[in-house]
Amino acid sequence: MIGVFDSGLGGLSVLAAIAQALPDADLVYLADTAHVPWGDKDDTFIRQRVLKIGHHLVDQGCTLIVVACNTATATAVASLRETLPEIPVVGVEPGIKPAAAASKSGRIAVLTTTATARSERLSRLVRQHAGSVQVDILPCPGWATRVETLHLDDSGFAASARLHLAPSLAAGADQIVLGCTHYAFLAPVLAAIVAGQATLVDVADAVARQCVRLAGA
Ligand code: DGL
Repeated sequence: MIGVFDSGLGGLSVLAAIAQALPDADLVYLADTAHVPWGDKDDTFIRQRVLKIGHHLVDQGCTLIVVACNTATATAVASLRETLPEIPVVGVEPGIKPAAAASKSGRIAVLTTTATARSERLSRLVRQHAGSVQVDILPCPGWATRVETLHLDDSGFAASARLHLAPSLAAGADQIVLGCTHYAFLAPVLAAIVAGQATLVDVADAVARQCVRLAGA
């Protein structure tokens, strides 16, 4: 059984890709909706939730764990792997590497939670994979909660998202990385904002391919 978890609904975007890649797999999804959003919490709190949920899923019989959350991966995937040495743990990290490789302008933007934006893991990802491009890290407080409450496409959000992205787009960013799994559900609104200027980058399919490799191993 594969256990997939997130703070809330966001990881369902990853679960869908896994279900498509592994249609016969036994999947269980856990949403920590009592504590969503994680992205506004401190690192100690996020780490505690990730360890508790990861261990709970293993107790339920999961033999592969997918941390379907950029925030949890950035903050706590290393701790989870340390405490579950026998269990493969797949994390989700912003698609900075593919975005940097695809950028023609030499500028990309990454949309994340506040916790991911401040993480050392994100800084390392940028250093390792985006040395040759300019990277705008754009924290988006409130966006995950918007998804949780299913306020996906009201006109107020489109207007504020447009303002949020405007400086990066004006500076030539041509790849916009969805660095939070919740933001996949905002993609229709975001795609309309960046149309003709930039491409949205999501890693759900790459995570699913990694699950296929590990599940078949
Ligand atoms: N979906 C999560 C992520 O990928 C967390 C969002 C939140 O709870 O703040 O970062």
